[in-house]
Amino acid sequence: MQVKKAIFPVAGLGTRFLPATKSSPKEMLPLIDKPLVHYVVEEAIASGIEQVLFVTGRGKRAIEDYFDIAFELEALLHDKGKDAELVQMRKIAEMVKIFYVRQKQAMGLGHAILCGREFVGNEPFAVLLGDDIIDADRPCLSQLLDVYHKYQGTVLALEQVPMENISSYGCVKANQITEEAFEVLDMVEKPKREDAPSNLAIIGRYVLTPDIFPILERQQPGKGGEIQLTDAIRKLLTVDAVYGCRFEGTRHDCGDKFGFLKATVDMALKRGEFNGKFKAFLRQRLCECEETLSVR
Ligand code: UTP
Repeated sequence: MQVKKAIFPVAGLGTRFLPATKSSPKEMLPLIDKPLVHYVVEEAIASGIEQVLFVTGRGKRAIEDYFDIAFELEALLHDKGKDAELVQMRKIAEMVKIFYVRQKQAMGLGHAILCGREFVGNEPFAVLLGDDIIDADRPCLSQLLDVYHKYQGTVLALEQVPMENISSYGCVKANQITEEAFEVLDMVEKPKREDAPSNLAIIGRYVLTPDIFPILERQQPGKGGEIQLTDAIRKLLTVDAVYGCRFEGTRHDCGDKFGFLKATVDMALKRGEFNGKFKAFLRQRLCECEETLSVR
């Protein structure tokens, strides 16, 4: 069955990025000139997704406004003859069919996905987290969907991370089947380095089936008092096969300040409009830093 629906859980509080996220959603932080969520919606569309559900919460209105028609702005752009900008604004409002549901309390990622049960119905669906921006020749979700179509089961995006960072992620014990596909044997949320079964971390892209919903419904709060998706998938493992896809591409953790900074630099270096200027600026700053260090 084709995967046409995607859930975007955006109801988290974004505490790692305070104070920027105090009154504005993390997903609206701009990477150069587009909010994070725009990149992720583009990835979903490029992977064949036709309907998107945002699971929102308090203070997330800016996301709804972003994907809506902005009449006043459009009228102003029209009056000023800014036709290219006008077309660009209208394109954003018409990108994809979008639905919204509120998660009344931030009770965890698993709970946020449960809020999408009616939207999903009885179809397989994708989940994309707005913090993970994945720069890839083939959209990351497309790569996961290939694995899904081959093995017909739940698929998690996997990335090999340095062992010293593994305790920041969900981590899997897995058997490699092909270059990119793994069969997941077990998984653990944010393990201590010495307890981690591998350096394969779970990244914010999933292909799930509706079988996850009855498990999520019964799922008790886990780490951080939240209903964790990882815990529910772990239960699913006892009755169903779960697969991993080690995707090709560069992932940026934009929910983290340093990750966001690196993503901005990487993206700016790729953008033709200021590539030369930006490189020259970085070189100059690097020289200044080295001079300061040698003086010390
Ligand atoms: P995170 O673990 O990154 O939490 O959530 P967060 O609140 O967004 O950010 P920090 O860690 O406090 O800085 C992973 C994803 O799950 C969503 C978030 O919006 C994010 O996309 N989420 C999390 C919900 O939608 N609801 C929740 O109750 C929790």
